[in-house]
Order: sequence, then C-alpha cells, then structure tokens
Amino acid sequence: MDVVLQRLRLGRDGRSQLLTGLRGVGKTVMLNEFEQLADGRGYFHEHIEVTEEGDLAPRLAAAFRRVLLSMEARRRIGERIRRALGVLKAFSISLPDGPELSIDVATVFGPADSGDLATDLAGLFVEIGEVARDHDTGVLITIDELHYVNVQTLEALVMGLHRASQLRLPITVAGAGLPTLAALTGEAKSYAERMFVFPVIGSLPDSEAREALVVPAADEKVRWQDDALDAVLRETQGYPYFLQEFGKQAWDAAEDPVVITAGDVERSIPVATAELDDGFFRVRTGRTSDPERAYLRAMAELGPGPVRSGEVAAMLNRRTTALGPTRDGLIRKALCYSPRWGEIDFTVPLFGDFMKRWIPDLSRLL
Ligand SMILES: Nc1ncnc2c1ncn2[C@@H]1O[C@H](COP(=O)(O)OP(=O)(O)OP(=O)(O)O)[C@@H](O)[C@H]1O
Ligand SMILES: [Mg+2]
Repeated sequence: MDVVLQRLRLGRDGRSQLLTGLRGVGKTVMLNEFEQLADGRGYFHEHIEVTEEGDLAPRLAAAFRRVLLSMEARRRIGERIRRALGVLKAFSISLPDGPELSIDVATVFGPADSGDLATDLAGLFVEIGEVARDHDTGVLITIDELHYVNVQTLEALVMGLHRASQLRLPITVAGAGLPTLAALTGEAKSYAERMFVFPVIGSLPDSEAREALVVPAADEKVRWQDDALDAVLRETQGYPYFLQEFGKQAWDAAEDPVVITAGDVERSIPVATAELDDGFFRVRTGRTSDPERAYLRAMAELGPGPVRSGEVAAMLNRRTTALGPTRDGLIRKALCYSPRWGEIDFTVPLFGDFMKRWIPDLSRLL
C-alpha cells in the first residue's frame, strides 16, 4: 500500500486494496495501518464506516468536506478550496436525502450534481484530486464495512474513482468488508480490477499466530511455554480476535508472573469462551428472529464449513424455497454469506460452536 501511495503522488498508477474476510480477522486494523502510511506520505485521509443502511454517498460527502477543510486549515489554499467546497455543496444538495452538510460557500453547479451517482462521484474525485495534485499532496479515503453498500452504489464508486485514476490524480480509496461484498460486473468489474487488488484476510498462519502472543508478552518480560501456545492455537484456530481474547485470559490467569503454562490456558478457557459468547458472538444475534436462530442452529449441526441450503431446510423439515426469506435475511444482516451457489456459511469464525453452546438441543426448535 505504501508503494501505491508513493506512486500516486508521483502521477503514476498503482493498485489500492479492497480487503475481504470474516469478522475479527484484522481488516479494520489494516485500514488503520493504511492511514498511518498515508500520513507518512503526506496525504490527507479520512475514514468512513458504512452502516447497515448502506449510506455511502452522504458519508463520502462528509469525508471530503473534512478533507477540504483540513487542507485549507493546514495549507491556506483559499479560492481553489472554496470552489471545491462549492462543487461538494452542489453534490450534497443533489443527493436524494437533500442537503446534509452546511457549507458556507457559493454552490458551484455543474461538475457533480447531475443526479447520476457515478458521474457525480467522478466529478468530485477529479475536483478534489486536482486540488491535491496542485498542492503537492494526496487524498486517501478508507471505507470500512463496505459489504453494506449495494452493487449499484459500489459500481458508481468504482466508475467515479476510475475517472480520477485515468487522469493520474493522487486520490484513492481503500476498502474492507465481509465476503458478502457485492460482486461487481461488466465495466465496473474490469475497472475495479485495474485499480484494486483484492486480498482475502483469514486466520493467521501458525508462526504469525504464535508471534502475536509471544511478542507482546516478551515486551513485558513474560514467556509463553510451548504447550501453552499449542493450546491457544488449537482453541482459536489462529483467528486474530480469538487470539487476543484467549491470550489475555491465559495471561490474567497465570500463576507465575513471568511464565504462562498450558495449565493456565486450560483454566482460562471457560473465561475466554464466556467473554466471547457475551460480547463478540452475542451482539451478532441481537436482532435475529426465531426462524433465523433455528436456521443458524441447523447450520451449526451440519458444519463446520459451508453447508448446502437444501440440507439446512431438510434438517428443519422444511422446503428450501420456504426458508428462502430466512436465509436472505441472514445474508442481509451479514451474519451469513453464500460462498458458492446453493451454499451458505457463517461470516463469524467459529460461530457454529457458539450456536451449539447457546442452544444445545436442536430438536427443541423443531
Ligand atoms: N495481525 C494481527 N495480529 C494479532 N492480532 C490482530 C491482528 N489483526 C487483528 N488483530 C486483533 O483482532 C481484533 C479484530 O481486528 P479487526 O477489528 O481489525 O477485525 P475486522 O476484520 O475489522 O472485523 P469486523 O469484520 O468484525 O469489523 C483486533 O482487536 C486486533 O486486536
Ligand atoms: Mg472491522
């Protein structure tokens, strides 16, 4: 990513990143890292988190406003910034939900207020990219939870950014989301492939998972015994969020202040599991209906790994079509995704184990 930022500043092309992966694998951590890199390369950057409503355009407008205002505050650019803010104001007024931002400048109609999102985003990216180029800086917008954006909006984002990229302007986007991230098609797809790489983030390989436990402990002069590390790796399967939780609880439970043993890990497993159940897992089930819970529990029975929707239906003694809306609801809530046609899996690692702890007896739901 650092090389990309450097190349864009030099008026060359470079491919930014759209990260996908399950819950808690470190996508947001990586976006934060990109912001640090952007800082180091003299960029202005802003972070957006899309919500379940998928409201990308107003959030982008707000992020651009912050970028332009901080450019003005730091560089005192004056008239050119006022014009860009005027273009942004027109864009924001043209959004379906009306003006979101109070911007105290004359509205500049034309570049970004046609009402066609792709065209208008192109206008904005070009406008702001030019200001950045002319003032020897760059702009990075990081967008988290990008899976909540629908395919039309995502395509508009790609098309808009592509225009700025054709003009070799120092402005780009890096994004992250669940594997449900909408699949691009046609022109938008080929543009996206030219502008982005699509790394899939998963659990950490053995050596990195060990390092994630050993290094922070060593900083505090605490040592992990090998069989203790083995036990945490077995319990967490190398998923970063779980490593964090199990590591913390084992450390807290350690009898010797400078050594963490397998015994400490064993004793802390119930604590770590309860913490995850009450936090990480339970928050995801907050808004699920009874049929959705039954569906998740049946998936757990058939898993781990992707299961066939037809088999889930059979387990619940229902027809696949009758359960279509339940399945779609779980995908919309981003609790599940479909890795292949006719298959479904959890977006949260080890979620099946949680469902079994939560509802031990599936037959109770039938
Ligand atoms: N490479 C890593 N090594 C060790 N721990 C990590 C690593 N990446 C992430 N973590 C830990 O895992 C936790 C989850 O990371 P993060 O919030 O970035 O996940 P995410 O992929 O954005 O998840 P979500 O989809 O739920 O937003 C963080 O709190 C962090 O402590
Ligand atoms: Mg995240």
